[in-house]
Amino acid sequence: MAIQFDERNLFADMVGRANGIARAEIERSTPKALKALESFRKLSDSGAYGFAHLPFQTAAIGAIREFAASVRGTFDTVCVVGIGGSALGAWALDCGMRGPHPVQGAFTPGHPRLAILDNVDPDFTHAALASMDPRATLVLVVAKSGGTAETVSTFLAVRDWMEQALGAESAGRIVAVTTEGKGDLFALARSQGYRTFGIPENVGGRFSVLSAVGLLPAALIGIDIAELTRGAAGMTRLAWRPDLAANVALRAALCHWLVWTRRAKPIQVAFPYSNRLWGAAFWFRQLWAESLGKARNRKGKVVHIGQTPVAALGTTDQHSQVQLYIEGPNDKVFTFWAVKRFANEGKLPKARLGLAAFDALAGQSLAKLIDAERRATAAAMTECGRPNCTLTLDRVDEYHLGAFLQMLEFQTAFLGELLDINAFDQEGVELGKKLTFGLMGRKGFELYRDQFAAYEKKRLVPGIRG
Ligand code: PA5
Repeated sequence: MAIQFDERNLFADMVGRANGIARAEIERSTPKALKALESFRKLSDSGAYGFAHLPFQTAAIGAIREFAASVRGTFDTVCVVGIGGSALGAWALDCGMRGPHPVQGAFTPGHPRLAILDNVDPDFTHAALASMDPRATLVLVVAKSGGTAETVSTFLAVRDWMEQALGAESAGRIVAVTTEGKGDLFALARSQGYRTFGIPENVGGRFSVLSAVGLLPAALIGIDIAELTRGAAGMTRLAWRPDLAANVALRAALCHWLVWTRRAKPIQVAFPYSNRLWGAAFWFRQLWAESLGKARNRKGKVVHIGQTPVAALGTTDQHSQVQLYIEGPNDKVFTFWAVKRFANEGKLPKARLGLAAFDALAGQSLAKLIDAERRATAAAMTECGRPNCTLTLDRVDEYHLGAFLQMLEFQTAFLGELLDINAFDQEGVELGKKLTFGLMGRKGFELYRDQFAAYEKKRLVPGIRG
């Protein structure tokens, strides 16, 4: 199995009855989990939700590989303009396969870098553009809706920057990833002659990493997307199995649902012990927060449910967060992300220095130490009654990364079913977007401009200092 899930430290006999679940609760809830699987399978088969089908879309995957091969060597930077689900998947894949910045090697046409412009901070945008050569940059503008203010505005700046350097040729260096035939970005791409790649309508941003949204930038920077989707396809087959012992995604969803809702753990800490999984932890934060944080359940009842996802990095955050995690409020469940085999072992020299702190580690390895620190932290948490579990990847390669991301998406979808909520919408972010459009004077958003003005009026009450 590509990914293992170890739930033993979630059990009451390990962390106490107040914080851990009883094995009998799992047995009692198994029919509910199987029902969740069945109902999500129906939704997926009906075409309502599309992420489970992505690894099998061989024609779309082939077209991406073909395009990447046709432009290879003509750029040293892939600049993604996108935000949220249109940016985080690409980051997770880049970080997973090539390591986080700044440890990635020097960028060249044979080893292009990925620059992601996912914020409208003007200093950030200015500095990013100043660091790129428009003649050696391929721009991917990614927006499912085709109208997200951050993406559209940054793209205006990037497009202008490209045009100033390349004139009419710039159109050949810009690719749009968006909903086929819909939205302003698609219209612009058509009128300007940009190459386009579609995002299936039934695939939402945070579930789109295995569509062109994630696969295109990945293929352009040299990631083997055939292996990535092979891993995800294997996980998909597993995730449809009505068997808790084999189905990691379903078992993890059930355990999390029980701990979260029955033992009051409103915070979920994703705790990778691998720098290469750090991007995936940020991708996961969005997946968990936007999918499971909801005002109403499917029956329309107000529930205000959600589990706040936190990303922590082992071992680094042992020296930053673990004090709180072990002694602070017992309101969290921890999921360690472990790697069985690192690409490099990090062997330490055998020579002894005659000093206890150094000699204890002589001849050992960083791989052994990071593993020992993770297991020791899990043990310490368990001994202090802090429920935790571990997801283990055999190694961080394309196959396992594809399987892992797909597993986390299935886990989220199953949890949505267990909670009886729609994990695939995001109504909560709409009002802020509309008010922004009102403030920026967009036509059709005058009502929101007025609503904002009324809000400002209410704020005229004096603050603490009068
Ligand atoms: O998961 C989601 O649907 C969102 O986070 C979107 O990805 C995000 O809002 C960006 O949307 P768009 O791709 O339309 O620019």
